[in-house]
Amino acid sequence: MTHVLLVGCGKMGSALLANWHKAYAGRMQFSVISRTAPRSRLDKVTYYTNLADIPASITPDVIVLAVKPQQLDAVLPEYAKRFSKPAILFLSVAAGKTVEYFKSQLGAKSHTIRAMPNTPATIGRGMTVLFAPSDVPSVMHKTATELMSSCGDVASIDDESLMDAAAAISGSGPAYVFYFLDCLTQAGVRAGLDQALAHKLALRTVSGAAALASNSEESFEQLRQNVTSPGGMTEAALQILMADKGLEPLIDEAVQAAKLRAKQL
Ligand SMILES: NC(=O)c1ccc[n+]([C@@H]2O[C@H](COP(=O)([O-])OP(=O)(O)OC[C@H]3O[C@@H](n4cnc5c(N)ncnc54)[C@H](OP(=O)(O)O)[C@@H]3O)[C@@H](O)[C@H]2O)c1
Repeated sequence: MTHVLLVGCGKMGSALLANWHKAYAGRMQFSVISRTAPRSRLDKVTYYTNLADIPASITPDVIVLAVKPQQLDAVLPEYAKRFSKPAILFLSVAAGKTVEYFKSQLGAKSHTIRAMPNTPATIGRGMTVLFAPSDVPSVMHKTATELMSSCGDVASIDDESLMDAAAAISGSGPAYVFYFLDCLTQAGVRAGLDQALAHKLALRTVSGAAALASNSEESFEQLRQNVTSPGGMTEAALQILMADKGLEPLIDEAVQAAKLRAKQL
């Protein structure tokens, strides 16, 4: 039975574990290293506080690294000492940290696959971008895909340099959408609606529009045009949003800033 060891049970680690447990408990074995006591414990999952607590006889097949990128320098050396074996897959969800970095920390023969999930994984509606280097055995790629598929949709890329761009869109993207929801709600309040109604209208509009786009063959541009009558009120709003210094250059700038930050992590 595939044994998956999760290192770090924070926001992302616990979301991943919940999906894996739901999809694979009984078919895969799960252990967790969590320095602080987890808020809730799942049955059939073994919880440890430190790596040293794991009996020497245990060797996981997959080690999932779900600590902050800045914590990896401190975390990896003890894992390298004990688990630097080509038969073990390291699955990293850390933003910005490259396969070359993991090889430098875990040994040249170690195998790392990078995954970039997002927080809708919490409800099984995540979007994960996977990068597996060409030297990773296909069975490991399959396991990583299987694990991440239980958290939502998965897209694989074969050019690692695109990972930061993908992270800047789908990894950080939920935060942009939450901010947009907030802006739309507050604009509604400033336009005279009460907070609860403005919140509901903004949320239902964004989730409904996303669902409509998901169910449509039409491009985003066409869908926008479908609700924009010439000379109408939607067009009046879009003239502001689509101005030279409107939303598009602003979003470009934000995505570039996220990409740049990934390089610094
Ligand atoms: N959140 C997102 O939207 C998102 C999206 C995509 C990818 N990611 C990636 O997911 C990773 C985790 O992010 P997060 O948002 O879940 O951060 P987080 O909530 O801060 O979780 C990190 C966890 O790692 C634990 N940890 C640190 N050192 C450890 C060690 N030596 N052994 C065991 N556990 C250790 C921390 O425990 P303590 O509290 O005890 O320090 C904390 O629970 C990051 O690399 C991030 O880039 C996050």
